[in-house]
Amino acid sequence: MVAKKLIQLLLSISILLSGILFNDQIAFASNNIQDSKFIMHGAVKYAKNCAVCHGKIAQGTPNWHEPDANGNYPPPPLDGSGHTWHHSKKVLTMVIKKGGKPMGGVMPAFENKLSDKDISSIIAWFQSHWPEKILKTWQGNYPKK
Ligand code: HEC
Repeated sequence: MVAKKLIQLLLSISILLSGILFNDQIAFASNNIQDSKFIMHGAVKYAKNCAVCHGKIAQGTPNWHEPDANGNYPPPPLDGSGHTWHHSKKVLTMVIKKGGKPMGGVMPAFENKLSDKDISSIIAWFQSHWPEKILKTWQGNYPKK
């Protein structure tokens, strides 16, 4: 009995902690966003491959809508404050795989560096930073994608 109680307590603490760590958005998310292990995988891959440009917490560059001296746009935020949520998961996956070149951008392609699982978990990670309202709108716009 005591052991069972203890396990329950530990479980609720870890659920509480993951809620705090992931901005409390997990419950509202789609796909694999509820899966904190999967999100952790995405967090690690994001930190290694994307944070250098898009920022540690996906906040992007402050003046991301203004092109630089070469006419290139700086890395946008992926945290829901930009327009990442205007795209389906299919489109986001394609941007990450192919990079910005097909659209005349400068982001490198990741199709030879990251697996489909890596990419999907990175998307789940940055979606865990989206405000609840944005996430819900996105889910409504792109059901099951
Ligand atoms: C060298 C800098 C750089 C790196 C590294 C990088 N990006 Fe980007 N990313 C950009 C830039 C700049 C853009 C804007 C389009 C362009 O110029 O290609 C962009 C655009 C995007 C977009 C489209 C956003 C939108 O709102 O439409 C997504 C999604 C994205 N990046 C995800 C990622 C992910 C995930 C990674 C890591 C796997 C990553 N990027 C790594 C620079 C980078």
